[in-house]
Amino acid sequence: MNISFTQNPNPKQKPASASELKFGTIFTDHMFVMDYEEGRGWYDPRIVPYAPISLDPATMCLHYAQEVFEGMKAYKSPAGELCLFRPEENFKRLNRSSARICIPPLDVDFCIEAVKELVKADSGWMPEWDDTSLYIRPFIIATDKKLGVHPASHYLFMIILSPVGSYYPEGINPVKIYVEDNYVRAVPGGTGFAKAGGNYAGSLLAQQEAAKKGYAQVLWLDGNSHKYIEEVGAMNVFFVIDNEVVTPALTGSILPGITRMSAIEIMRSWGLKVTERAVTVDEIYDAGANGRLKEMFGTGTAAVISPVGELMHSGRQLVINGGKIGEITMKLYNQLTGIQFGKGQDDLGWSVKI
Ligand code: PLP
Ligand code: COI
Repeated sequence: MNISFTQNPNPKQKPASASELKFGTIFTDHMFVMDYEEGRGWYDPRIVPYAPISLDPATMCLHYAQEVFEGMKAYKSPAGELCLFRPEENFKRLNRSSARICIPPLDVDFCIEAVKELVKADSGWMPEWDDTSLYIRPFIIATDKKLGVHPASHYLFMIILSPVGSYYPEGINPVKIYVEDNYVRAVPGGTGFAKAGGNYAGSLLAQQEAAKKGYAQVLWLDGNSHKYIEEVGAMNVFFVIDNEVVTPALTGSILPGITRMSAIEIMRSWGLKVTERAVTVDEIYDAGANGRLKEMFGTGTAAVISPVGELMHSGRQLVINGGKIGEITMKLYNQLTGIQFGKGQDDLGWSVKI
């Protein structure tokens, strides 16, 4: 399929300093759009000027949240090349998310082509300050105009771009996380593994309450027993206990993070023991109390590698590594961002040139 291109005749003013890059608030001059109709498939891929879209008030995604999305980034290397990080993993995950809520799949290679074309068209928006990148947000919405609860037969696939700096105002400094034992994010058999908008709507109240108490995000526990650690709002989590790195196993209610998968591979390549298994919050507090919990960090496209300096669970505070970034966290941040920004050795071929 050929992607048609319409140049934006009215380009916007670009940000003048890194301090303007509040996560996900600035958008570039173009967007990618493609339609789907049952019986016809995906059609009319196009890059057009970034603009609002018009939707009938009865459009299904507005009522029943039949929507999925992805989050990925484009980076600029010191040599000036634009690169993506493991983009096929994002579109494979998009298809898994789609399958869970009855959205038809996309061709992974075509999606990567679409991202490359869009990033090329808006390459002038790639921020060049330290630790900044171009965030890429592909998403699909159901566009049938119907109020019956059924899978739609029309969809819109779009990709938008946003120049970003760090996700947390803390940057690479440790964040404080609230362990949520009242609300839950996902349950076995639900949609937790899918990057579906509805999961995020359900997380907002807990996040708002945690923010009021001074915490950056919540750490979700399992929906049945409220004992097992799952993930943070926009990150998977890892713990360094003694000399072992432990992360919750993917049970179906956790998002299988691409940064998580990459972090596991990188740390194993250093010879570290990395174990994916069930982890209870009590185990972490016990390990903290007897000095065995060395580090905790989160992984995510937006959040990169974020050290966690403090947990709060049922009124009990746990300070980790004196509230400072740990050695493994820092080394992982350096190796991962080295690959993403085309600065370090990329033995596994994760960085894809645009
Ligand atoms: N968990 C949740 C709920 C997320 O929204 C994200 C962000 O995408 C992650 C984990 C991390 O996933 P990834 O590393 O693929 O960005
Ligand atoms: C990402 O890391 O890409 C995310 O989607 C997290 C968040 C902004 C929802």
